[in-house]
Amino acid sequence: MDTAAAILEELIGREQAAYARLHPRSRRDFEDGQRHYLYGAPSHWMRRWAGGFPLYGRAARGAHLTCVDGLEYVDFCLGDTGAMCGHGPPAVTSAVAGQLERGATTMLPTEDAGWVGGELTRRFGLPYWGFTTSASDANRAAIRISRMITGRAKVLVFNGCYHGSVEEAHVALRGGQTVLRNGIHPNAVDHRQVSRVIEFNDVAALDEALATRDVACVLAEPFMTNFGMIAPQPGFLDALREATRRTGTLLVLDETHTFSSGPGGYTGAHGLKPDFLVVGKSIGGGIPVGLYGASEAVAQALWAVVHVLTRDAFDHMAQVARGLAQQARTVLSRHGVPWSVIQLGARAEMLFSAAAPANATEVARVRQDALEALLHVYFMNRGVLVTPFHCMMLTCPATLESDAQRFVTVLDGFCSELARRGAVSAPR
Ligand SMILES: Cc1ncc(COP(=O)(O)O)c(C=O)c1O
Repeated sequence: MDTAAAILEELIGREQAAYARLHPRSRRDFEDGQRHYLYGAPSHWMRRWAGGFPLYGRAARGAHLTCVDGLEYVDFCLGDTGAMCGHGPPAVTSAVAGQLERGATTMLPTEDAGWVGGELTRRFGLPYWGFTTSASDANRAAIRISRMITGRAKVLVFNGCYHGSVEEAHVALRGGQTVLRNGIHPNAVDHRQVSRVIEFNDVAALDEALATRDVACVLAEPFMTNFGMIAPQPGFLDALREATRRTGTLLVLDETHTFSSGPGGYTGAHGLKPDFLVVGKSIGGGIPVGLYGASEAVAQALWAVVHVLTRDAFDHMAQVARGLAQQARTVLSRHGVPWSVIQLGARAEMLFSAAAPANATEVARVRQDALEALLHVYFMNRGVLVTPFHCMMLTCPATLESDAQRFVTVLDGFCSELARRGAVSAPR
């Protein structure tokens, strides 16, 4: 060991001994915690505070806190930004106490949600928001929606990132390869299947990583904070936005820590235009929370995925069915086949009678089982499936005019053969 290292070790020993002397009660609480907690304290990382055991807190107010041994501290940790409002600011405590009085959890939205949504948009610029209980969850929601919209599996992150307990971000770059971060269990996940990692500020690597167009989103802090502070180099964030847009990749900016940049986060301060923006911790004044904002384009793309049967979709389905019905009628009359085609929105149906029936008895009278069976097998043999047990053709949002045309072409052949063979039944 060199001299400096030996000195440091000696000093650490001295300070940890002093810490132990000053904090007998914290030490006792941590020893007691071994009986109740997997890691001795409620969260696994708490045991890693440098004193050798965690400081147990008693109370915190403003920028100060007191430990269970009665010692006072100036708190520059501030809950790792969770308490960026200061501890117990009156505006937060009275709002939270008031809400607890009115009921903490009801599965119902409350009217103040409207104001909060508007304020989030005013600050961060994104029009639509979703709430979670942690920033990790908000990141996961943004990743999930990105995958839904793009149909791609991978998430690109930057080496040295931290985005909470997000599986896809538990990776590092070593020897040019995506590997698991030190100390992380693989958890039965093949991270190379779901993650890609490159260095921050490396535009060439970014272009290369996105070129294969299998990345659903880039999840990034606009200014890296969790591996020491790493500033974006001039032009890097513009290049990131341009490369993501060019390759159809969504951009998720995790502002959980960079919210310290100002009231609208780094995004607001620098006029960035992400597809998603994630905030957490401090935005709840110390109450665990996560939020994700989505751009107009993301919202439209999401609604198109989850709301299939929209007005537009119905308009399209009905238009295709209408065209199919009209062309089918033309074909029938050209061949002198006296049947009718009824259309109801996305649904068209062929009946073996010239006049539309008015009741079930009339339907039963015009049914022709053999003709119907022939029609189904004839169409099937030519690549068209008509609904069995009647002759219904239903369109969906993906049905194209060319699909309807294919039906009409087969119908043309069918009628032509029936007419030629004299097998067309007379109108009733
Ligand atoms: C950038 C970033 N994102 C997300 C998180 C996770 O926050 P939470 O504990 O609310 O899940 C952290 C936590 O420190 C963080 O630094």
